[in-house]
Amino acid sequence: MKCEKHIEVTIRPLRLSDAAAVQRYASDERVARTTTIPQPYPENGGENFVRKGISAHRNREAFYFAIVADGDMIGVVELGAVDYEKRSVRCDFGIASSHWGKGITTRAVALALHYAFCELDMEIVHSACLKCNPASARVLEKNGFQETEGFIYNSSKFKNEPARRFQLTRQAWITAQTEGIS
Ligand SMILES: CC(C)(COP(=O)(O)OP(=O)(O)OC[C@H]1O[C@@H](n2cnc3c(N)ncnc32)[C@H](O)[C@@H]1OP(=O)(O)O)[C@@H](O)C(=O)NCCC(=O)NCCS
Repeated sequence: MKCEKHIEVTIRPLRLSDAAAVQRYASDERVARTTTIPQPYPENGGENFVRKGISAHRNREAFYFAIVADGDMIGVVELGAVDYEKRSVRCDFGIASSHWGKGITTRAVALALHYAFCELDMEIVHSACLKCNPASARVLEKNGFQETEGFIYNSSKFKNEPARRFQLTRQAWITAQTEGIS
């Protein structure tokens, strides 16, 4: 899978010390634009997010991983909306705009998928993105996700925004691992 070869990408559970990095990248309008991240980002937003993530991870309600590139915490990949009965999770992600376009998120999502299928024993991982966010769709496609449907997203931040749903089944993931995906 393509990632600039000299960049080492790892994921690990969030730590309190990640709050400043989250605060920095989440305050960036380019990162907030296509996500539920509030804008303007509150002063204590990074710390609140990290505290919530650590607590949810500890309680196995959601799994928040820091994305670390060459030793720097630059973003988060999250396995949320955990349904242990249906064995399904939702994958969300975002990284600092200074690091876009280097294959880092694609690699981080691949690592999170490994965790979802091998550690959590999930059967299906789903995700979604706004239609105006082709980079996010591409990250999902490069990890083997199939687009399932379009829908209209409404929230306090977005009104009638066209969006796309994706899913990856355990079987498709296993097949992609053996065949190789690009
Ligand atoms: C979406 C996001 C996570 C992508 O991260 P990234 O590390 O740049 O992703 P990668 O480099 O691994 O892959 C990006 C892919 O999208 C492609 N891409 C980027 N901009 C694109 C565009 N405007 N149209 C089509 N493809 C585009 C890249 O070319 C690359 O594909 P390729 O390897 O086939 O060339 C990043 O842009 C981000 O953090 N955005 C803000 C938060 C966000 O939107 N999160 C997703 C919410 S659903």
